[in-house]
Amino acid sequence: MYNEIDLHKININSNPPTEEPSRQYYFMAKCRGWVKDFEEQNGRTPTACVTTFGCQMNARDSEKLLGILEAIGFSPTDSEQADFVIYNTCTVRDNANQRVYGRLGVLKRYKKANPRMKVALCGCMMQETTVIEKLKKSYSFIDLIFGTHNIYKFAELLCTSFETERMLIDIWKDTDKIVEDLPVERKYPYKSGINIMFGCNNFCSYCIVPYVRGRERSREPGEIIREIERLVAEGVVEVMLLGQNVNSYGKNLDKPITFAELLREVEKIEGLKRIRFMTSHPKDLSEELIEVIKQSKKICRHLHLPLQSGSTRILERMNRRYTKEQYIELAERIRREIPDMAITTDIIVGFPGETEEDLEETLDVVRKVKYDNAFTFIYSKRTGTPAAAMADQVPEEQVKRGFDRLLKLVQDTAREQVAKYQGQVMEALIEEVAEERQSDDSAVPLVTGRLSNNTIVHVPGDASLIGKIVPVSLDECHGFYYIGHCVLDKKDAE
Ligand code: SAH
Ligand code: SF4
Ligand code: F3S
Repeated sequence: MYNEIDLHKININSNPPTEEPSRQYYFMAKCRGWVKDFEEQNGRTPTACVTTFGCQMNARDSEKLLGILEAIGFSPTDSEQADFVIYNTCTVRDNANQRVYGRLGVLKRYKKANPRMKVALCGCMMQETTVIEKLKKSYSFIDLIFGTHNIYKFAELLCTSFETERMLIDIWKDTDKIVEDLPVERKYPYKSGINIMFGCNNFCSYCIVPYVRGRERSREPGEIIREIERLVAEGVVEVMLLGQNVNSYGKNLDKPITFAELLREVEKIEGLKRIRFMTSHPKDLSEELIEVIKQSKKICRHLHLPLQSGSTRILERMNRRYTKEQYIELAERIRREIPDMAITTDIIVGFPGETEEDLEETLDVVRKVKYDNAFTFIYSKRTGTPAAAMADQVPEEQVKRGFDRLLKLVQDTAREQVAKYQGQVMEALIEEVAEERQSDDSAVPLVTGRLSNNTIVHVPGDASLIGKIVPVSLDECHGFYYIGHCVLDKKDAE
């Protein structure tokens, strides 16, 4: 376990161990040499900035990158005018890629001003050969490039990169390896993401993720439980179990176990108060899971259930493996069994071949399911996916029109859903001081809390409440959030 490893005791003059994670600890110890040299030459510790694009899985990976950088001796900073900057990239839609290229232009200027600066890129975008070609050609100032499969080797790659002036590129096609027990620097003291699985086997026809994240691999339940227990001992009260399709968790383990069974085990962890998970593929959501959620005192009343499209014809072309009717039936069953469950979704507009009628089907599902929130995306063509080769791409004008209609409907529906709880008292986990918002009495600061169903509530309070779960009265609904007040004196808070 990381806490027990003292990097000073590692002999860096011996050969590196072949076993993981020991090998990476060896390289962390070795990287400290570079940090020491830097400190001697500059009279200060070097700074490191990790910038994350993309989903919660990337955010978790970034915490691992920062954990390693801190173990080596870097001081973390949010400024990209740092001595080491790493972009953890996303490629799910083209605009994610464009943002990275845009910001690289700025980094280039920073590096001109500070030639000792090191720049690294990693994450999903790096798994695409066209991206690597472009970076080699037009962004030669980058020092280190690696992908999603060898991220656990970060310390080793960094060490090699420190020893060369040339651009170091190491991309793997796939891996079946899961390396446990590397350092992690968490962003929040009271909540944490936990990877329960990596990769995806679903190959939805529009999606690049299976190509850049590789095949589905589940972590051993024992390792997951051990990690959560350790986090709880450090003060974490809420965990988010992460996977591209958590409902298929455990199927490929030597001793198979279902996601519902894993949840039962996580529920037993003493001191843990809230459990969330993301993402649930509708085709794999079992009766057993609904039952476990229903019985649970800790699983939050929020289910993210991506629809993608409400048209059975489009769903088939998307390779989603459910029909409109099956989806509605599932959502209705969940609403029936667990009435206080918020359901949120992802929807894509403009998938190849989508007609006005198909869009009507999607709007129909939104009206029927009444989502508590929905993320709407314009279809983005990803080279290498089956959908990219489909001939009938939808004209931009039609996509925009459809997108605007959908957005208006999901916003109206979500507003209605959120407003349902006006006047009720519910428990909120206080997450941060609400910097942007002032209460009516501007002398009283506000803090931001999150309800079990994921709705945000601002209540008067100060930083001492952060990380606590307190009952709050939901006084005024402001569209997608509430203004309320704590019902208990904060001394009584848990
Ligand atoms: N594994 C998750 C989603 C991961 S990607 C799931 O199956 O739900 C997050 C969301 O991005 C997807 O739900 C989808 O709505 C959207 N998305 C993925 N590929 C896309 C593309 N090519 N164009 C537009 N949106 C896309
Ligand atoms: Fe992409 Fe589909 Fe896998 Fe989600 S389930 S990551 S949308 S391929
Ligand atoms: Fe993006 Fe990779 Fe996540 S492509 S959405 S960061 S898995």
